[in-house]
Amino acid sequence: MKTEPLSGYERLKVLHDVFNMDTNEPFRFSFDMVARTGLSSKDFIAPTSFDFREGKCFKMGRTIGAVSFLQILAPELNDRMLADFLEMDSNITVNFHIRTIDQAKAIKSIKSKITDLDKMKIEEQKKAVRSGYDMDIIPSDLATFGGEAKRLLQDLQTRNERLFLVTILIMNTASSRQKLENAVYQTAAIAQKYNCALKRLDFQQEEGLMSSLPIGVNQVEIERGLTTSSTAVFVPFTTQELFQGGEALYYGLNALSNNMIMVDRKQLKNPNGLILGTPGSGKSFSAKREMTNAFLITEDDIIVCDPEAEYFPLVQKLGGQVIRISPVSTDYINPLDINTNYSEEENPLTLKSDFILSMCELIVGGKDGLQPVEKTIIDRSVRMVYQEFLADPKPEKMPILEDLYNILRNQKEPEAQRIATALEIYVHGSLNVFNHRTNVDVNNRFVCYDIRELGKQLKKLGMLIVQDQVWNRVTINRAQHKATRYYMDEFHLLLKEEQTAAYSVEIWKRFRKWGGIPTGITQNVKDLLASREVENIFENSDFVYLLNQASGDRQILSKALNISPSQQNYITNSNAGEGLIFYGSTIVPFKDDFPKDTQLYRIMTTRLEETVQN
Ligand SMILES: Nc1ncnc2c1ncn2[C@@H]1O[C@H](COP(=O)(O)OP(=O)(O)OP(=O)(O)O)[C@@H](O)[C@H]1O
Ligand SMILES: [Mg+2]
Repeated sequence: MKTEPLSGYERLKVLHDVFNMDTNEPFRFSFDMVARTGLSSKDFIAPTSFDFREGKCFKMGRTIGAVSFLQILAPELNDRMLADFLEMDSNITVNFHIRTIDQAKAIKSIKSKITDLDKMKIEEQKKAVRSGYDMDIIPSDLATFGGEAKRLLQDLQTRNERLFLVTILIMNTASSRQKLENAVYQTAAIAQKYNCALKRLDFQQEEGLMSSLPIGVNQVEIERGLTTSSTAVFVPFTTQELFQGGEALYYGLNALSNNMIMVDRKQLKNPNGLILGTPGSGKSFSAKREMTNAFLITEDDIIVCDPEAEYFPLVQKLGGQVIRISPVSTDYINPLDINTNYSEEENPLTLKSDFILSMCELIVGGKDGLQPVEKTIIDRSVRMVYQEFLADPKPEKMPILEDLYNILRNQKEPEAQRIATALEIYVHGSLNVFNHRTNVDVNNRFVCYDIRELGKQLKKLGMLIVQDQVWNRVTINRAQHKATRYYMDEFHLLLKEEQTAAYSVEIWKRFRKWGGIPTGITQNVKDLLASREVENIFENSDFVYLLNQASGDRQILSKALNISPSQQNYITNSNAGEGLIFYGSTIVPFKDDFPKDTQLYRIMTTRLEETVQN
């Protein structure tokens, strides 16, 4: 939660709302009106009447209210007290007036208190000796006060604490006397629970009310000295909450307050996300939970790149399409698939050509990548291969790799032959998985690309092709104003290769504008910070889900994300499904203990002994 100063208009509105709880009249104010009618701003906020004749409560229009102050008896305070007050389902206003005391003055006054107490102690001891008692016997209050004063002095002098004078006022309001007394009674019970007492401000109700307005004036002279740490407890919302409405999804419970964490990544400036944690910390599990949630609550499309073949039970259960890409499977996707929305620019070919260049670079390889001449040839061939399809976009005219190969073979430059030869194994040879028209439903709402069975040579290529497929879908969806969520598990595999890393960086830069929500899932934090380019991914992710971290990674992340030592505890040796969630500039520790006796758990777990065989 962020705080910001109110404008003059907003301040008047707050005052209006405090004074006019009994009416539903909206606040109307304009300087125009002031100029025309000669009314003062007070006329716009005042209630119909004030009545302070009774000593124990006051009336304000038809509202009846009572102001009390909080007497703090406890030496240690608990930050739950304020939350408990605010959770009461009656009208309550809590006000803090906090004033610092000059450090030198504070120390001086405590020292003189101690001297006073010492003096009293000596008097008592004299008395004791005179009447023949042991001189160690002194009234117990004197002993405790003496001890507390010395401790306070020590805190101020050595622990960098300061002293504050604090007045805490609580205003209960209600529509009837009966309801008011009930509310006050309930408030007093909460105060008591935290070792404090609620005292009605008898015959000071007017001062109480005026001091309960957000104008920074304290007319109640009952103050209590508190040290910095005791005062800090009252700074509201030390436990930050993440709870949004709309299409918010569940991300666990707030570890501090046990409230649900519900957020909508689409409301972030940048919905890009990362899920980081050691093996077994619950990364994939939380991704699956988010997917399931998104599947049920939103209309978004969901695509997974799954190098470990662990998402299919979930995807199948939700009626999605699992696409198994392997040298032996018969699920095919065509790397040359194109749709006419493919690019922002007029010509969808420019971007497609970029992709095919990356693909050829991966295939032809070599240390230096493609030569300028080779790039020109590929670009030219790409334009040629789509000519027929673009003139008459029918699915059966969609070109495949073999068409590109044939065109390359027909070019006269010797470089063209070199590229064609490199491509040959992917067209006529044993690696021809990608030389087919797409024969699976890539348009299903929930698609999982299972690439586990792709061998080493094909894996990189497979990942690149999947990314291109996703891009295809994102562009189609944008035309339909639909969001696309894309999950990349084992993200480090993509970052390790230059081409796929570059493509991922592109995704992180471009996806947002196209309604794409990418999520990278990885155990290797170091890979994320490997190069300036890749670091962009890290910097452009407003959503980070941090699970348990190894100590080296924890140091790196703490620095990069500004994690305080106390927050680091939540990602140190934490259980599966526990950690820190970063949502924009908000950090909240979370825990999620997913019930294990559910069908959903059994299709999301990766523990072998727990998985369902179906
Ligand atoms: N929120 C949770 N509630 C209950 N159990 C969980 C939770 N998250 C994870 N687990 C348990 O931890 C196991 C491992 O989780 P998961 O498969 O997500 O690990 P991972 O971080 O993806 O590991 P790897 O890096 O090896 O892929 C799950 O199978 C599940 O049993
Ligand atoms: Mg995993």
